[in-house]
Amino acid sequence: MANDDWTPIADTNELGVGQMKAFALNGRRLLLVNADGDYHVIDEMCSHEDYSLALGCIKGSRIKCSLHGSYFDLATGQPLDEPADEPIGTYPVKLEGSRIWTRLD
Ligand code: FES
Repeated sequence: MANDDWTPIADTNELGVGQMKAFALNGRRLLLVNADGDYHVIDEMCSHEDYSLALGCIKGSRIKCSLHGSYFDLATGQPLDEPADEPIGTYPVKLEGSRIWTRLD
């Protein structure tokens, strides 16, 4: 897949505010998040240990890992507190009508 290839991943009516959807793209496990109407695509797995962030919860513009409680900024992927000290991947999102697209850079 070329770097500029966008892939449709969901429809806006699939996700209410604060909801997430796990999906795979090119073998990568990803998470689509609706945070207050802003959509984000991030790595599904926490950077601290191999644990799914889909089991966590959305708090405003952050996602909380439910295993050890680290928060990550959904826009930048940066960890906001310990124990996680590495960022998670974040990916661009665009909306066309009700279709949500992402691409892997
Ligand atoms: S596995 Fe996510 S904070 Fe430890």
